Amino acid sequence: MLDGKRIVLGVTGGIAAYKAVELCRLFVRAGAEVRTVMTAAAKEFVAPLTFQSISRNPVFSSLFAGVERYDHVHIALAEWADLFVIAPATANCLGKIAAGIADDLLTTAVMAARCPVLLAPAMNSAMYENPVTQGNLQKLQALGYRFAGPEEGELSCGETGRGRLAAVELIFEQARALLAAEKLLAGLNVLVTAGPTREPLDPVRYLTNHSSGRMGYALAAAAARFGARVVLVSGPTSLARPWGVRVVDVTTAREMREAVLPEFEKCQIAVKAAAVADYRPGSESGTKIKKSGELTLHLVKNPDILEELGKLKGERFLAGFAAETEDVRENALDKMRRKNLDLIVANDLTEPGAGFNVETNICRLLFRDGTELPLPKMSKDLVAETILREIAKRYRKQ
Ligand code: PMT
Repeated sequence: MLDGKRIVLGVTGGIAAYKAVELCRLFVRAGAEVRTVMTAAAKEFVAPLTFQSISRNPVFSSLFAGVERYDHVHIALAEWADLFVIAPATANCLGKIAAGIADDLLTTAVMAARCPVLLAPAMNSAMYENPVTQGNLQKLQALGYRFAGPEEGELSCGETGRGRLAAVELIFEQARALLAAEKLLAGLNVLVTAGPTREPLDPVRYLTNHSSGRMGYALAAAAARFGARVVLVSGPTSLARPWGVRVVDVTTAREMREAVLPEFEKCQIAVKAAAVADYRPGSESGTKIKKSGELTLHLVKNPDILEELGKLKGERFLAGFAAETEDVRENALDKMRRKNLDLIVANDLTEPGAGFNVETNICRLLFRDGTELPLPKMSKDLVAETILREIAKRYRKQ
C-alpha cells in the first residue's frame, strides 16, 4: 500500500510513545521506509532500539549526528520525507511548532519540511483544553498542518476526557490518504488572487468590499496540496498564510495589477478570485476630509486586471470569478467572453451561504467549451479542490 513511500516518524515525550512503535510497524508492513526522530523526553519512555529494530533504520535524535551529510541532518530528513508524522505530539511540541521554535532535531526538521505534516496530539485533557493549546491547534490548522485525533477516553493520568492519542489504525489511514493525495498540478506555476482591494480616500478612510479572502486562500492552499508552485497576490485580509504558498501583499487595485503582471508571465494557470474595486476616488486627500454638509465623491475607473490578462493569455489557463446579484449566468458568460477566459466561476450573491465573507460557496462553473458544472453548497476548501481538479483535467489535455 505504501511501497516506496518515505515517512519520518517523530516521537515526543508522552506516555503514548509506546503506541508509536505499533504505528511504525504498520508503516513498515505496508511497504514504507520509516526514519524515526525521537526527542530526548521520548527516549525516557521507549528505547530507540525498539524503533530501530522495527524500522530497520537508525533512530535520529541529535541535531549533530548525520544522515547522509553530517552537517545538515534536519535538512536531509526534511528533503527525504514524503510525509512527516508526529505521534504522539505533546502540548510542548505543538506549541514549539506553532511559535516557530526549532531547538531540537524534530522541530528543526519539521520547520524545514515541504511535505505534508500529520500531527497526532496526546496529552492530559486539562492541557488539551487550555486556551493556549487550543490557540496553537487553530494556528497550526490554518497553516495547513493535518491532525489525527486526539480522542476522548481514559487517560494515563486516571482522568477521562479528550487528549488520548488517536487509534494507531486511524493515524495510519490518515497518513495513507495524505500520501495518496493527487499531485495534479505538479511542475506547474499557479497564480491566485484573493481578498478585497482598498482604495484610499484620505489618511483614515477607504472604499472596499466584503471579501474576506477565504475563497482565494482556499484555492492557493489546494493548488499547493496538488503539487503546484503557488503565488498568491492578496489584498488586505486577516487570514493566516497558506502552507507552501508565496504571498505577495497588496492594498489597491493598481498595486494588485503591478504584482500580478510579472507573476502572470511565469505561470501556466491563473485564477482570479479577488474582489477588485472597480472604482477608486479620483484624488486622495493628504489630510482627513472635514465634515461639512454634503460630500460628493468623484470616482475614476480602476484598471480591469483580468481583462488585461485575457489579452496576454496565450496558452495559459485563465479563470475568473463573477459575483452577481441578478442574471447570474448571463452576466458571468458575458464576462467570460469579454475577458477571454477559459473558465468563469459564477457566485449568486443572493443565495445564503454563497459569496462574500462566509465559510461556504455555491458556484456554477462555466467553461469556454460550453460545459457547465453547477456545484451544491460546499465549504470553500472543497469548492477550491473541485475547481482545480477541473482546471487540471483541461490544462493537461490542451
Ligand atoms: O473573499 P471571500 O469572502 O471568500 O469571497 C469570495 C468572493 C465572493 C470574493 C469570490 O468568490 C468572488 O466571486 N470574487 C470575484 C468578485 C468580483 O469582484 O467579481 P467581478 O464580477 O467584479 O469581477 C469579475 C472578475 O474580474 C474577477 O475575477 C475579478 O478578480 C476580476 N476583476 C474585476 C475588476 C477589476 N478591476 N479587475 C479584475 O481583475
